[in-house]
Amino acid sequence: MAKSSKTPPDISTLTKPKAKIELMRLSLEMEAHNARYYQDDAPTISDAAYDALRKRVEAIEAKFPDLVKSDSPTQTVGAAPARGFAKIQHAVPMLSLGNAFSDEEVTEFVERIQRFLKLDEIPALVAEPKIDGLSLSLRYENGELIHAATRGDGFTGEDVTANVRTIKDIPNTLKGKHVPAACELRGEVYMLKSDFLALNKKQEEAGDTVFANPRNSAAGSLRQKDVSITASRPLKFFAYAWGEMSDYPMAEPTQHAMIAWLHKAGFTVNPEITLCKSVDEALAFYRRIGEGRAKLGYDIDGVVYKVDRIDWQARLGFAGRAPRWAIAHKFAAEQATTILEKIDIQVGRTGALTPVARLTPVTVGGVVVSNATLHNADYIKGIGNDGQPLRDGVDIREGDTVIVQRAGDVIPQVVNVVLDKRPSAAKPYAFPDKCPVCGSHATRENDEVVTRCTGALVCPAQAVEKLKHFVSRLAFDIDGLGDKQIQEFYDEGIIMHPVDIFTLAKRDERSSKKLRDREGYGEVSVRNLFAAIDERRKIELNRLIFALGIRHIGEGNAKLLARHYGSFAVFREAMLAAAVGLADEGNTSEAYQDLNNIGGVGEIVADAVVEFFAEQRNVKALDELLGEIEVLDVARAKTDTPVAGKTVVFTGSLTKFTRDEAKASAERLGAKVAGSVSKKTDYVVAGEDAGSKLTKARDLGVAVLTEDEWLALIGG
Ligand code: IVH
Repeated sequence: MAKSSKTPPDISTLTKPKAKIELMRLSLEMEAHNARYYQDDAPTISDAAYDALRKRVEAIEAKFPDLVKSDSPTQTVGAAPARGFAKIQHAVPMLSLGNAFSDEEVTEFVERIQRFLKLDEIPALVAEPKIDGLSLSLRYENGELIHAATRGDGFTGEDVTANVRTIKDIPNTLKGKHVPAACELRGEVYMLKSDFLALNKKQEEAGDTVFANPRNSAAGSLRQKDVSITASRPLKFFAYAWGEMSDYPMAEPTQHAMIAWLHKAGFTVNPEITLCKSVDEALAFYRRIGEGRAKLGYDIDGVVYKVDRIDWQARLGFAGRAPRWAIAHKFAAEQATTILEKIDIQVGRTGALTPVARLTPVTVGGVVVSNATLHNADYIKGIGNDGQPLRDGVDIREGDTVIVQRAGDVIPQVVNVVLDKRPSAAKPYAFPDKCPVCGSHATRENDEVVTRCTGALVCPAQAVEKLKHFVSRLAFDIDGLGDKQIQEFYDEGIIMHPVDIFTLAKRDERSSKKLRDREGYGEVSVRNLFAAIDERRKIELNRLIFALGIRHIGEGNAKLLARHYGSFAVFREAMLAAAVGLADEGNTSEAYQDLNNIGGVGEIVADAVVEFFAEQRNVKALDELLGEIEVLDVARAKTDTPVAGKTVVFTGSLTKFTRDEAKASAERLGAKVAGSVSKKTDYVVAGEDAGSKLTKARDLGVAVLTEDEWLALIGG
């Protein structure tokens, strides 16, 4: 499961400074999503979730118009071009489209146009399927294809000319008499669903990248450094727009006449494109296309309406990133029925076990889906996050006929079961109690929906994250061994477990592939790294406990545990004893009770530590680590001294001992040293020239001791 993030602030209560920060945060988040979508062809959030982010930015900017920056996501499109391809600047920027999700929003769009142009009549609209591919701009000079560029950030795209010359739907030379001196012709590169499936099959067999959907597959196929790869991919293209036009090939240019001209010039244009004389006609087109969507052969995610008259388009112009003369009417979430063949469990980097439905492939909203998330164990059982029944409490079983939904979603979900079709042999799904990756036992905390693997130190699914945590600042804090190095060493199999860090030097000595010969390393940096590792062979108990990466054990809890147990040996022994009691309802072992009674340690923390030690594999990994390091004992708080549990304040100039010595000895004997006097103070130890603290102690009736009296009390 994803980490739960904080709820974003309510826009109505935002002050301007807060709004500025929130806009900055949203911009960064959207930029990252843009890069994943446009550059990596690997989005991680749904289109709907992305739209929600943009709506939020729009709402904040509407409230604080002077906070709108030129680089705001509402003013820019897409992501800057990826590295590797030359850049091409578009003569006319390639902008994006505003969205409508309801009939009303389409009506409003048309009314806005009427108001803007002061029109009484309804402007004719061209309705076009909105192809879910990637847009492309083709520059022709005197009819010859000069270059081709992806959209990029809307202003500058990637030069994909050589790749584009391999696409049959795109002419190298424009046909016909009316060829403008210079023009940028635009449209969508896409892949047929059937071609996408066949390509993926081939890729899978060859062990190559498998694409998530036809759009990613088209984008990945176009943006190949090796043009012969692009040539081997079945890419298609629909022309539907243009940028610069030195002159129009007709006297009274309209959208529909331009589509006809593009066709004559040698392009493939979408045969569904329809000229509509009313909003009703446009909406009827939307419904007709929506219903026939699965049969189209390619993915679409809505319909685009464009004002037909080009002179009106020009007058309407643009608002921010989108034209006033066009809008995208998006389709709602799509559902489909299929068979759930099998439930698999995936283990995430934090150890969360996520059930995944393996489905008989089905087209959902034009996209082929063969996997869908089942969220967690409760979801399968028919229990919602709030504990209430889901789907009337119907559980999900292997063999069930299920309804799958995809809302432009990256991850489709199973939303319902067709109970009538349940095979009589279908059995309730037994959620595993072992991690399918490492075999450690998997548990669920009381109020949590997520089942987690307990093999913190041993599970390969979690290893990298745990290792990064292990070397982090509050844990082993090893100079020169950060996230980046850990990732590299892990990927190369050099550091797989914590103990490997401490055997690195020894292994390197024997190895023929020396660290010092690695890129970015040298004799000195390797020597420094080994020295930094050696320096950490002696480690404080609290740091070690924190480093283990046990759930709920942050720095504070690690200190509480370290202080309580004092030494690693005692801690280990106690935890193993407590783990034995784990099987009993309510764990009655003395060791567990003792752990649970440590001030500040609650049941959740106690259970997490005990679960860790109940996993033999963790204990084994820990013991191996202990063979390489030495854990320093904690000077333990005593309970059987005359000052144990008392609060002491030292004041004035001390002559028999320094302030630090006084503090250390008091703490060693179980006393708490405070900086100011209050009713809770038990003793004030006053040296010479004690001032206000002494006065306050007298006022409050707190016992005041001289240095000698203090020494006598603690036994010298
Ligand atoms: S017109 C200035 N027409 O949708 C308007 N775009 O969300 C230019 N798209 O970047 C776009 N089919 O990649 C237009 N028939 C169509 C389209 C279409 C797909 C894509 C295009 C654009 C995106 C905007």
